[in-house]
Amino acid sequence: MSNKIQSIRGMHDVLPESTPHWQYLEATVNKLLTGYGYAEIRMPVVEKTELFSRSIGEVTDIVEKEMYTFEDRNGDSLTLRPEGTAGCVRAAIEKGLIHNQQQRLWYLGPMFRHERPQKGRYRQFHQIGVETFGIPGPDVDVELMAMTARLWDQLGLKDVRLEINSLGSLSARQAYREILVSYFKDNLDILDEEARNRLETNPLRILDTKNPNMAELVQNAPSLLDHLDTECAQHFETVQARLEALGISYVVNPRLVRGLDYYSRSVFEWITESLGAQGTICAGGRYDGLIEQLGGRAGHAAGFAMGMERLLALLEEEGNLPDQPRPHIYMVTFGDEAEQAGLVLSEKLRSQLPGLRLINNCGGGGFKAQMKRAAKSQADFALILGEDELTNQSVSLKPLREAGAEQLSLNHDELIERLKQQLQA
Ligand code: HAM
Repeated sequence: MSNKIQSIRGMHDVLPESTPHWQYLEATVNKLLTGYGYAEIRMPVVEKTELFSRSIGEVTDIVEKEMYTFEDRNGDSLTLRPEGTAGCVRAAIEKGLIHNQQQRLWYLGPMFRHERPQKGRYRQFHQIGVETFGIPGPDVDVELMAMTARLWDQLGLKDVRLEINSLGSLSARQAYREILVSYFKDNLDILDEEARNRLETNPLRILDTKNPNMAELVQNAPSLLDHLDTECAQHFETVQARLEALGISYVVNPRLVRGLDYYSRSVFEWITESLGAQGTICAGGRYDGLIEQLGGRAGHAAGFAMGMERLLALLEEEGNLPDQPRPHIYMVTFGDEAEQAGLVLSEKLRSQLPGLRLINNCGGGGFKAQMKRAAKSQADFALILGEDELTNQSVSLKPLREAGAEQLSLNHDELIERLKQQLQA
């Protein structure tokens, strides 16, 4: 026998025991976003490589070392999407969803980054993303944060905190960049190799370092918040005032710079301490420059994305995952005739009792084997149809989950009545 083929490192199957959790999260988010007027968009998983290098930024971890890039049979350079914003902006420009209008969009799906896999960090992971176009903010910036706060509330999540910052305008950032570079150059001996490399290419990212030897240096670095132009400062103040009006707690973190280059003004992250190092469950911000950068007419944009694996891990950690729905009935039959009658009866039940969860025993088997499967299915009842029942035009309903409960013999109408009560309970 040849060797088994295994899945790719960092890319996971979602097994049947977990899919109900994913569906629960998806359904909750879908309902919430629909309630705020957001509509779903679905984009391809593969895009031209240039889309990502032009939007996320050439000098970012994602573009420098994490993309799954390949040449297709035509020799075009394509990339498995590492995130959804770039593709969403591309689609919106291409399909005329941006100019002279407002859009509130959301999407869900797999993203791909060749990172070092660990708890909460995968090479294929799933995001639910939200993007708005044509709204300058700060109202919509706050809407995005309020919407996520409401989601945590609906999901029952407690250990989450909101960090916000402003990255200002491009010109404010350029001026600040020079101040920052000069500060770091004065402290060159403390910088690690990565930071030295970033000094010329992307100095703001140095603020994001995880190196404890640089913590104090970064802590004392000049803050971009002290160098915002009046409009950006006003925008940021309004964001904070509105958050306070809504009673949403937040922390201003001047070192929150994000790993993608397209942001300006408001940025935010929702962070939990319950998941270890990979504690950011949701992140985003405003990215007004990107539409023009990708060939559209200048326009406003803001959004966020949440990591579904991390959210599900947190839901599990906090004990907030719903129980899986159990079947109401497992139908057990004996003999050819009963098998056929059972099939007809089960379809009749399904027609008359919407919402009924009924499993037919398939593949035959003796009474014991079928009852074993019934127990394993976790069904509330076994519905038994044998020769006696056929002769009497009845069925036997055997409770499987109540100790000592009696088996009932019922005609079809009584059965339907009984199950109706069960479904309403
Ligand atoms: P991001 O911060 O790169 O932003 O990713 C957003 C979220 O996706 C993270 O906070 C995290 O929960 C999840 N995530 C990222 N990488 C991984 C991974 N390797 N494994 C598991 N989860 C991961 C963006 O992608 C932006 N497009 C967000 C955005 C939308 N900004 C504006 N609009």
